Amino acid sequence: MVTISLIKADIGGLVGHSVVPEELIEGAKEKLEKAREENIIIDFYVFNAGDDLELLMSHDKGVNSEEIHKLAWNTFKELTEEVSKKLKLYGAGQDLLKDAFSGNIRGMGPGIAEMEFEERKSEPLLVFAADKTEPGAWNPYLYKIFADPFNTAGLVISPKLGKGFTYEVMDLKRGKTVKLNAPEEIYELLALIGTPAWFVIKDVYSRYNGEIAASASTSRLSLIAGKYVGKDDPALLIRAQHEFPAVGEVLEAFSFPYYVAGWMRGSHTGPLMPVSLKHSQCTRFDGPPRVVGLGFQISNGKLIGPKDMFDDPAFDYTRQKAMEMAEVMRRHGPFMPHRLGLDEMEYTSLPEVMKKLEGRWR
Ligand code: 13P
Ligand code: 13P
Ligand code: MG
Ligand code: MG
Repeated sequence: MVTISLIKADIGGLVGHSVVPEELIEGAKEKLEKAREENIIIDFYVFNAGDDLELLMSHDKGVNSEEIHKLAWNTFKELTEEVSKKLKLYGAGQDLLKDAFSGNIRGMGPGIAEMEFEERKSEPLLVFAADKTEPGAWNPYLYKIFADPFNTAGLVISPKLGKGFTYEVMDLKRGKTVKLNAPEEIYELLALIGTPAWFVIKDVYSRYNGEIAASASTSRLSLIAGKYVGKDDPALLIRAQHEFPAVGEVLEAFSFPYYVAGWMRGSHTGPLMPVSLKHSQCTRFDGPPRVVGLGFQISNGKLIGPKDMFDDPAFDYTRQKAMEMAEVMRRHGPFMPHRLGLDEMEYTSLPEVMKKLEGRWR
């Protein structure tokens, strides 16, 4: 069995919230290289989604391994001290909400997507990471990929995919999950995941053989910190081909830039724009929200690749569309639906405004 762990955190941005600086990428590579030499991990790839540092690791320790989680936690902690604070990066250590590591990185601030499986004869893996949005942003994409035949031809023309997929959906408010089968229960599924700030797709399983097909990060910083501290820029792992959607069927879902929550100050609606690693940076209005997609073939635990999947003219039209959609939203300025509803905002001045106007209402 091989385990793939994608663990990420924002531990400091250059400039503001735009990107992870090269110093942090290099620092993380050094630490993971050392872990590879000590046989803690088999392989790794370090990259960034905007200002989020992404540690992709393969190993044989299973999901929720204390050793692997601790490696990621220590990497983030040490780099915060050694690099972020020294360079006075913006928001140094911002996602590290706890002081001491206690066995599992879940609930401590960083986001994590993890899956363990028996490596197939050929094992294509797609790795997605987004900045300036939240885990629920994956909901429409995962619906399209595993339940919509207008996106995924295999659901209709491949008998293995025709068995359908099981979605495990998390209720973020109650911390509970429910399993729903597609296609029979797609209306119930959509009734939940259409509210992405509340219900989030956590995992997807093949109903042909029960194998894990996709796993997403589902943390909610605000529930950990006890107050609103921002959006959890999300990560996602998807296995492709054979009993799963083809690589191109997975990517096809990203041809439409769905409106997601996040963007400026974590408080605005904007389109999720697919970009190459080179353009994995947030600029206009601290965005727009962006997603990178990396492809790997796994070979005896080694991560062969990556292939930068959105670094292609085939996604130029989507990016153009995303900027048109961004423009439509930006023209709304401080008005909803560009600005999020009060319960989803990272900042609000409303209590202070109400206080100031107290006594003036007639
Ligand atoms: P190949 O015949 O090139 O393997 O392609 C099959 C497939 O899954 C295309 O999406
Ligand atoms: P991050 O969550 O990516 O740090 O962004 C925060 C923000 O306020 C952007 O405007
Ligand atoms: Mg940041
Ligand atoms: Mg971020």
